[in-house]
Amino acid sequence: SKPKILITRPDIPVAGLNLLRKRYHLIIWDKPEPIPRAELLAKIYGVDAVFCVLTDKIDNEVLDHAGSQLKVVASMSVGLDHIDISSLQKRDIKIGYTPNVLTESTAELIIALLLATSRNVVHANLAVYKGEWTSWSPVWMCGTGLAGKVVGIVGLGRIGFRVAEILKSFNVAKILYFNRTVKEEASNFDGEKVDFPMLLQNSDFVIVTVALTPQTRYMFNSWAFNQMKKTAIFVNGSRGDVVDQQALIDALKNNTIAAAGVDVTTPEPLPIDHELLGLENCVILPHIGSATIETRNEMACITAKNIIAVLEGNPEEMPAEYGKVNS
Ligand code: GLV
Ligand code: GLV
Repeated sequence: SKPKILITRPDIPVAGLNLLRKRYHLIIWDKPEPIPRAELLAKIYGVDAVFCVLTDKIDNEVLDHAGSQLKVVASMSVGLDHIDISSLQKRDIKIGYTPNVLTESTAELIIALLLATSRNVVHANLAVYKGEWTSWSPVWMCGTGLAGKVVGIVGLGRIGFRVAEILKSFNVAKILYFNRTVKEEASNFDGEKVDFPMLLQNSDFVIVTVALTPQTRYMFNSWAFNQMKKTAIFVNGSRGDVVDQQALIDALKNNTIAAAGVDVTTPEPLPIDHELLGLENCVILPHIGSATIETRNEMACITAKNIIAVLEGNPEEMPAEYGKVNS
């Protein structure tokens, strides 16, 4: 009989599903909400592969329910913080993800969030609809420009790197970055590697593109916001948990920093009565960094191809295996 694949969402772009349909028996979670934990534990039993997304926590308990035939977990995401990587590696289960194909779209969205925040795009737009546009005014809705400013990028991976390249054409004065390793390619945008306090103290814009790991969890705490300029704008395109969100709320309320733009929060979705939604100096987006039709199609196809490579017995042909050099 055909190998079985558990797919944790019904709305996977069809280009990806079509790659899998003929060869495999697909078990597709068919409700619009993320698969509940109990359903995941039940449905993973006996499958050869899992096609998951970032709302599915894949840990030891899940793997214990799966059985030893499970060969690959492929996530339709670049982030893998929802997956217990070492548990999968111990069981020799391959891990697929989708780097590269979302670099441009995510970098573009981070720029959109940066400009929306620095130029009051959201509030200005709402003001028009609320009848608050009374006349052209010399000072109304004034934001802050990017040209001549210092930008700090925390986590110079593919996405951070692309954001920096784009910002160079905005004529920023300087790009600082904080990263574990020196990135030689940062010479493309005259990037300067600095330590974390230096980056926080000297940046007009602080952009986070670091992966969420035990080391980066809550790295933006009240100490970090206190290091930043009072005029600083903070943009998070990473994961909500790189921020101590209460510390961010306090920093925005007390004008410790000027404003924030976040594509990621804790929790997701944010309840509509959440304190963060009441803050005028915060722009919130619903985790849409990679959300272009082109990118999501490619993400679905790569996730499918990662599964096919392993199930066909050619794991070395996975287009994007986690941990492989150059992936
Ligand atoms: C998005 O956040 C992703 O990890 O793909
Ligand atoms: C990591 O998420 C990256 O590709 O920048």
